[in-house]
Amino acid sequence: MFILKNDEAIPLYKQLYHQIRERVLSGQLSADSRLPSVRDLADELSVSRNTVEGAYQELYAEGYIYSKPRSGYFVSALDQVSAPLSLSDHRRKHPRLPERPVPYLYDFHPARLDRESFPAALWRKCFTDCLRESFRELSQYSAPQGEWGLRCNIQKYLERSRGVICEPEQIVICAGLQQSLDIVAQVLKREHSKVAVENPGYHLPRSVFRNHSYDLVPVPVASTGLDVEALKASGSTIAYVTPSHQLPMGYVMPVANRLKLIEWAQSSGSFIIEDDYDSELRYQGKPIPSLQGLRPGGNIIYLGTFSKILSPALRVSYLVLPRSLLSDYRRMFQDYCASVSLLEQITLAKFMELGHWERHIRRMRTIYKKKHDALLQAVEHHFGPRVEIMGQGAGLHVVLQLLANNLDETELIGKAQEKGIGLFPFSVTRVTDHPDSLKLLLGFGGMTASEIEQGVALLSQICT
Ligand SMILES: Cc1ncc(COP(=O)(O)O)c(C=O)c1O
Repeated sequence: MFILKNDEAIPLYKQLYHQIRERVLSGQLSADSRLPSVRDLADELSVSRNTVEGAYQELYAEGYIYSKPRSGYFVSALDQVSAPLSLSDHRRKHPRLPERPVPYLYDFHPARLDRESFPAALWRKCFTDCLRESFRELSQYSAPQGEWGLRCNIQKYLERSRGVICEPEQIVICAGLQQSLDIVAQVLKREHSKVAVENPGYHLPRSVFRNHSYDLVPVPVASTGLDVEALKASGSTIAYVTPSHQLPMGYVMPVANRLKLIEWAQSSGSFIIEDDYDSELRYQGKPIPSLQGLRPGGNIIYLGTFSKILSPALRVSYLVLPRSLLSDYRRMFQDYCASVSLLEQITLAKFMELGHWERHIRRMRTIYKKKHDALLQAVEHHFGPRVEIMGQGAGLHVVLQLLANNLDETELIGKAQEKGIGLFPFSVTRVTDHPDSLKLLLGFGGMTASEIEQGVALLSQICT
């Protein structure tokens, strides 16, 4: 019996085709068995003869059935082993991806932004203006290294706010950190094979460099940032660092250690990759100037992103290459196309040009400072002396050091999930993946102040 549904988007003849095809492939309809006549099947299913005729013709054209003059249609003999999987077999063997997970009530993921703060009206205005002014450019491929106007705006912003000294020609517009690091990994590959990464540190750079067959060397991080002596001993000739707000511990690398790191790079012909991902968000004191600005002509590759202030969904970031790498970059990537949409790039350039970007940064700093303070207050109130807070005063997350905890990390995350709390496993930041049930990485960007308060209250009941 075939079941056809009138209210489905798939036409009736196609539904019938699929169902017969599936039975042929699964062997339910055996080779050389006769199919009902067009008229009989049409009557049985209460559909028009055209519907059945349409299904049979398609099955016939693809070889699932054959016809005998004046006898009708018969099932073809198929080798069941090599036959393509029927739809139901396919679904059994390749179950669908799980449904989109239900969002957490309290999502402490460190890379979430405020849900209400994307400057939609201003962005829409810049976008439609750009569309009107530049629609002819949509008939062409845009500049592979990124739009010149955007690179000029980024250069001015970096010089003013981050002390980065460069020219627009050194800037490459990328679709996020992974692409920036892909480029760096390829440009450096000829002469370098060992990369030092912070431990604990951001997990993504490890994947990128591993995918490019580099040897990874975990180097410990102390409150002064990367341990430069351990770096020297590691034999690495590339070091990936987050000196202005170490991820995850939140440490700021003091100038003495920065100079030691720069000296290591200069004296050994090594490269520093400075990831300055969230330096706009500093709530106490002044922003820490970049490491690149301390030695603009040095072997420092500077990376920045629009993901922390504007939107991680836009996928816009940038890379500032030292002049020494520019010709290799151009030679290797001259045939590549731009990876960020022209319209997003020119919209962003206009957004910056009109001063919206810097006003937006100030607004975001105020919003996130309130959330940051709400988190500190809630932790103090609900955990009290049971924890030490680390890395506060900047960015979108802090780390809690629990003085005691009876659960291991998996149990803790599971129990939190039962209460609607999403926790990012701290162990992901460790190269060795050692579960660490005494450290909690708490992002606060995507939560309201009252969600932060309630989430921390629940969490404090779990961590006993
Ligand atoms: C250390 C670090 N760098 C960079 C980024 C931003 O990456 P992207 O520009 O790919 O969004 C993040 C995002 O969470 C991060 O944690």
